[in-house]
Amino acid sequence: MAKWTSRHKAIERNVTILAVLALIAVAIGGIVEIAPLFWIETTVKPVEGVRPYSPLELAGRNIYIREGCYSCHSQMIRPFRDETERYGHYSLAAESMFDHPFQWGSERTGPDLARVGGRYSDEWHVQHLKDPRSVVPESIMPPYAFMAERDLQFKNIADHLKAQRGVGVPYTDEDIANAVADLQTQATGDGDKAGLLKRYPKAQARDFGGAGRITEMDALVAYLQSIGTQVDFKAAAAQEQPK
Ligand code: HEC
Repeated sequence: MAKWTSRHKAIERNVTILAVLALIAVAIGGIVEIAPLFWIETTVKPVEGVRPYSPLELAGRNIYIREGCYSCHSQMIRPFRDETERYGHYSLAAESMFDHPFQWGSERTGPDLARVGGRYSDEWHVQHLKDPRSVVPESIMPPYAFMAERDLQFKNIADHLKAQRGVGVPYTDEDIANAVADLQTQATGDGDKAGLLKRYPKAQARDFGGAGRITEMDALVAYLQSIGTQVDFKAAAAQEQPK
């Protein structure tokens, strides 16, 4: 008994030994919790329907990041009743597995956007982005009318796909070779739609911005219309119904 208390005293009174031992104890706990995540294949369970962004959606996502939309909008619905009733099914890890960097966000000055895809028409989005208060009078969102005027710079879109591939998004050589053409097809509705859908199932192809040419608005609205639409929760719920 006396021996133990004296050892304990020695540790407690020597700051260096205490710090080293505390560090070792914390490191063991840390390794046990963190290390398996790097090896377990199922850290993020793949979910049917989740695919990499199409080139146009990716270009829109780049604009979303450039404009700092994430500073007011989260993209992560938490599994609480008040959130799922307002926004829809809670977010799954797999739904952001191709998001580099992810857009979960930590601030909700505006609503969560994780399931905004398909909730409004393209025209609504265009009008809302040009002048938020013309559709939601009490809105404090800034206007982004300039996007409807600015041509989308997409000549280098293949490089963006390559960069995403560098961090683990499974774009194929075929996806990269067709990036510019796929972007044009999706933004106009004209071109090799079958190829686009084969590479990016459920990709919607049309003139999103309504300007008759490919603007930043087209890309951003295409992105917004795609958010949270990849997983078919209705079909999944029907499958899970008890027989
Ligand atoms: C200063 C904060 C702020 C910024 C920055 C901001 N928003 Fe918003 N946003 C809001 C607020 C507040 C609302 C709710 C009122 C409204 O609908 O306008 C909103 C609403 C929205 C909605 C409708 C969501 C829904 O479910 O009704 C969309 C879509 C949207 N914003 C997209 C964007 C995009 C895209 C950007 C970047 C280009 C952006 N916002 C930047 C504050 C912001």
